[in-house]
Amino acid sequence: MRTGKLVVGVTGASGAIYAQKFVREAARACDHVYLVISTNAVDVARTELGTEIDKKRFSTLQWLGEDFRNVHLLDDKDFFTPPASGSFLHDGMVVVPCSMGTAARIANGISDNLLTRCADVCLKEKRPLVLVPREMPWNLIMLRNLTAVCEAGATVLPACPAWYTSPQSLSDLADTVVARIMQAVGLEQSFIPEWQAE
Ligand SMILES: Cc1cc2nc3c(=O)[nH]c(=O)nc-3n(C[C@H](O)[C@H](O)[C@H](O)COP(=O)(O)O)c2cc1C
Repeated sequence: MRTGKLVVGVTGASGAIYAQKFVREAARACDHVYLVISTNAVDVARTELGTEIDKKRFSTLQWLGEDFRNVHLLDDKDFFTPPASGSFLHDGMVVVPCSMGTAARIANGISDNLLTRCADVCLKEKRPLVLVPREMPWNLIMLRNLTAVCEAGATVLPACPAWYTSPQSLSDLADTVVARIMQAVGLEQSFIPEWQAE
C-alpha cells in the first residue's frame, strides 16, 4: 500500500547539498514530506551552503528556492506528532545525510528525539528506512552500528558519488547520490538515466 507520504530526517553530517536536493525531489514525487531537521544540521547547512534554515519561520522557498506546500517541518522534540507513532501510515523514511551519532542512536534504539523515534518506528513496523551516512574512515564502532541497522532491516546507502556518468559539476555529482536514494525508497527519478549495456 502506497500512501504518498515520506518522512525525511536531516542531521549534522557533511552533505547538506544531498538533503537540499533530495527534499526538493521528494516534494515533487510525494504527496507529503514530513521533515525533521536536527540543530546540528542547521549549522552544517549554513557552513556548507551558506543557506539559513530558519526553523521558526520555515520556508521551502528560502531553503530550496521553490515553494512546496506539501513539505511539513516537524519539531524534533515533539513526540506528539504523527510519524512518532506506528499507527500513522507512511511509505518509509530517509535520513540524509546521516551522522554517525544518529546512526549509533538508531542502531541502539535510543529514541531521544523525533528523528530517532521515527527511525525506530520504521524498523518496528518493517517499513523502508534508508540511512545515508557521510563519514570517512569508519571505525569499528561505526561499522558495527551500520551492520546492526542493516540487520534490523534498514538500507545503508553511503554518500559515495558515482563518476561513470561523467558529472560536469558538483550538482551533477550530488545527483548521482540523490538518484540512488530515490530508487531505494521506490520514487521515480529521471535526472540520472539507468545504465544501459553497450
Ligand atoms: C562542518 C561539520 C561537518 C561534519 N561532518 C560530519 C560527517 O560527515 N559525519 C558525521 O558523522 N558527523 C559530522 N559532523 C559532526 C556532527 O555534526 C555531530 O556528531 C553531531 O552531534 C551530529 O548530531 P545530529 O546527528 O543530531 O545532527 C560534522 C560537524 C560539522 C560542524
